[in-house]
Amino acid sequence: MDNQALELNQTIQKNNATVYELLGDKGKNAYFPKSGILSQAAQASGKKINATIGIATEDDGSPMRLDSLTKNIGLAPEKVFPYAPSYGRPDIRAKWQEHIYEKNPSLKDKPISLPVVTNALTHGLSIIGQMFFNEGEKLVLSDLYWENYGLVFEQPFGIKFDLMNTFSGEGLDLEAFEAKLSVKKAGKIAVLLNFPNNPTGYTPTEKEALAIVDVIKRSADKGNKLLIILDDAYFGLVYKKNIFKESLFAQLADLHKNVLAVKIDGPTKEDYVWGFRVGFITYGIKDGDKELYSALEAKTAGLIRGNISNASNLSQSLLMTAYSCPNYAKEKQKKFEILKSRYEVVVKELQDKKEYAEFFTALPFNSGYFMCVDLAKGIDGEALRRLLLDEFGTGVILCGGVIRIAFSAVQKKLIPELFDNLYQACKKLSK
Ligand SMILES: Cc1ncc(COP(=O)(O)O)c(C=O)c1O
Repeated sequence: MDNQALELNQTIQKNNATVYELLGDKGKNAYFPKSGILSQAAQASGKKINATIGIATEDDGSPMRLDSLTKNIGLAPEKVFPYAPSYGRPDIRAKWQEHIYEKNPSLKDKPISLPVVTNALTHGLSIIGQMFFNEGEKLVLSDLYWENYGLVFEQPFGIKFDLMNTFSGEGLDLEAFEAKLSVKKAGKIAVLLNFPNNPTGYTPTEKEALAIVDVIKRSADKGNKLLIILDDAYFGLVYKKNIFKESLFAQLADLHKNVLAVKIDGPTKEDYVWGFRVGFITYGIKDGDKELYSALEAKTAGLIRGNISNASNLSQSLLMTAYSCPNYAKEKQKKFEILKSRYEVVVKELQDKKEYAEFFTALPFNSGYFMCVDLAKGIDGEALRRLLLDEFGTGVILCGGVIRIAFSAVQKKLIPELFDNLYQACKKLSK
């Protein structure tokens, strides 16, 4: 093991032995090189002759660039063309941390790490797979989950999914959750929670959120060491009253010395920039201090350096222009209202058209991009999906045995037709 990794491990162990135990072998070996090219280049910064940096420069010292690109980009070349740091641009890291505190008032005064920039959330999840798991280790998650978790966790790292039932009646199956976590001295337990959820569009009620936190605390009290990964991809898109609006991270970041909370989030869906590829990894644990967080950030940035090297400077800089724009909040609110109005039409359609219940019923939903319907017995989901495509000009997703509908992507005026098509197609199939 490299001495720099050893040093980080000692820092982590000294601060919190649980965090060290939660690391997988790759995480234990990870480090961000303090010596080597990067640090030598940093030392040469500002010198009259700097022959260290791995980019090309113009004769005036600015980044070399093509006019055919600069004419389309209204940002200073320094913010666009050179590499961003593997940790991410310092300005966006600080700004995103500020945003996390603003959006989660109950996180107030709880110390958390500085967010490390990833190539969006998928990449953040993958880095966490590398950092915390060894082959064959389990990850607890609900049985209705984002299909891509298979490619992110199972395939590359051999992580085994330990699925729990998602719903019981109109809410979450908290007993199923408790059953996974109530094991006495199971040692390490890794859990992935994704709210608002893909595919169901469900976020816990305020009561359920507190119950989830309570289950985690009781498990930690028993001596279990818990890694709680929060996939907050759809954060902020909550449309109904009494639904938990903050991230569970706000509750978990200082819950217990045996609970490491990892928040995976980013502007992909929060700021409607799917193709920008910027995301963040942020850590929180009770009594976590700067030293512990810096060590975790260094390991994370080291894994990123060895994987994509660094995320897009252009995307990070563009986002910073939005975050300092006075209209940013107002613009976001407008988009939120559009999505909320689509959600409301879906709710109304399902309430008004009682006949739909003959063929499909909605699973609980209150947030995000999606909702799911469960099909009546005897209706073949794949045949229905095909029929909708071929005869009704309508595309939906069949996943986990249910039909997922992305109401986020359908104009409000077309939503009644979408559900009517679904109904007519079911009717045709059941003849
Ligand atoms: C639950 C969930 N997590 C993560 C992601 C990935 O987001 P990104 O595009 O930022 O990688 C998605 C995207 O669909 C998602 O649905």
